Amino acid sequence: MYTTEMLASIRKVEHSRDSRMAEQFPRLEAKEKEDLLSRYHPDFIPEKFATLQVGPNKGEKAPTELVTLLEGRSRIRDLSLNLSNIDYDVDVLVIGGGGAGASAAIEAHGLGANVKIVTKLRLGDANSMMAEGGIQAADKENDSPAQHYLDAFGGGHYAAQPELLRKLVADGPGAISWLNNLGVMFDKEPSGRMITTHGGGTSRKRMHACADYTGAEIMRTLRDEVLNRGIKVVDFTAAIELILDTEGKAAGAVLLNMETGQHLIARAKTVIIATGGAGRLHYQGFPTSNHYGATADGLVLVYRAGVPLLYPDTLQYHPTGAAYPTQIFGCLVTEKVRALGAILANSEGKPFVHPLETRDVVSAAIIRECTTQNMGVDTGSGSAVWLDTPVIEMIKGNGTIEKSIPAMFRMFINYNIDMRSHPIPVYPTLHYQNGGIKINLDGSTCIENLYVAGEAVGGIHGRNRLMGNSLLDIIVFGRSAGLNAGAKSKSVDVSALSLDHVYKFEKELQGAGIVCDTQSPLLLPQYAREVSVKNHAN
Ligand code: FUM
Repeated sequence: MYTTEMLASIRKVEHSRDSRMAEQFPRLEAKEKEDLLSRYHPDFIPEKFATLQVGPNKGEKAPTELVTLLEGRSRIRDLSLNLSNIDYDVDVLVIGGGGAGASAAIEAHGLGANVKIVTKLRLGDANSMMAEGGIQAADKENDSPAQHYLDAFGGGHYAAQPELLRKLVADGPGAISWLNNLGVMFDKEPSGRMITTHGGGTSRKRMHACADYTGAEIMRTLRDEVLNRGIKVVDFTAAIELILDTEGKAAGAVLLNMETGQHLIARAKTVIIATGGAGRLHYQGFPTSNHYGATADGLVLVYRAGVPLLYPDTLQYHPTGAAYPTQIFGCLVTEKVRALGAILANSEGKPFVHPLETRDVVSAAIIRECTTQNMGVDTGSGSAVWLDTPVIEMIKGNGTIEKSIPAMFRMFINYNIDMRSHPIPVYPTLHYQNGGIKINLDGSTCIENLYVAGEAVGGIHGRNRLMGNSLLDIIVFGRSAGLNAGAKSKSVDVSALSLDHVYKFEKELQGAGIVCDTQSPLLLPQYAREVSVKNHAN
């Protein structure tokens, strides 16, 4: 339960509740938002970014932690690998076992391709599984893909690649039907009509959900489909370098069996990178809502091969990470809690931002309250603001919390915090990588036969993503990458395999005087227990 100091602050929140419910905090003007972001959003702290000195984005800024990995030391540097010794030979190699990888594998398999998924953890161990609030798609009468486009383009600060965003919204309704037909149990009215709600920055109710475990339900269904089709999945096996052929086309990957330490060579006609995000790099020391494996591996692999990144300098800090108790520090408190009516309040019980402004704006406002305004509540391990959840039951009726956000209810009640009667403390948590690998409309890259899908892609959402557009993008772009890579694989003849691009990149690093001992890709967060693979194998 809460400390005495927190309980004293809660009394102020309770005291101000009626007035906060009577009058919503006004939406900010564009200029006010810009000012707030430039002063408080972590993307605007120049000293937390470094300039890339080599590679396709040379001269551009990226988070210091990412730059260290992009310019890090290849894991194959001291190995002597025999590229003629092929362990796996497939049409389509999918690297990553989350929603994008699974969707891609299903579609490529549907075209008759011989598909293999390799994943450094297990199928479904991914950010997709942890997504809570919902998936957007404009499939109601009062809505349209054009309206969805306007919301997402504005919410992303007009920086989305227009053709990618256009595909996202246009293919949205089809993605929902596809998932529904596969067996995803979306929330529905008794008539069978899908229930849809608002998210931050949406002008229509287009959030489809499965309570507050939407990602888990989608991933359950995709995983079943992968396994039912007999698609081969190699667990606990990480890709540590891309392999090209002597013509410079993607042709496979060097793999590391995480359990035995054995290196394997996979040859493929086409390769799909679906390695997900980067939250476990804990940029700027933030906690994260991300899965344990979110360490930006795909970005490192393709960067060495010469594929540029788009907007590597922009990250999403979800406004409502759990801030107390420490056991759940940084875990996601879904935006759906605010969509249901919960209001943000500072330690004095005062509102300070509209709860459904876009995420970057809400996060910046919370950081302001907890820093310069000194209006955060002390949790014992940091400062936080209140998310006044009892309001939900007052507006929507008793029982709404347990029915609509059962995962949230359980997360807090485990620690004797009843969010039906008490507000919960929140602080921004590192949630999503807005930037990522530059792709073409069909998911291909500047390297022939190399495709990318999911959170590893940059540019679909611009410089800020709206809730529910990531679950949509893993389905839309995952399926599309699978279809395109599967079709392409039918006409590919792989030439001799080569790792020359890795050695060339290492030379560039030396030429730039960069001596970095950090091995990359990182594969597991820095605080992971170091397991001696030798001991493990013995
Ligand atoms: O708040 C949430 O449920 C997160 C959703 C998302 O990132 O799309």
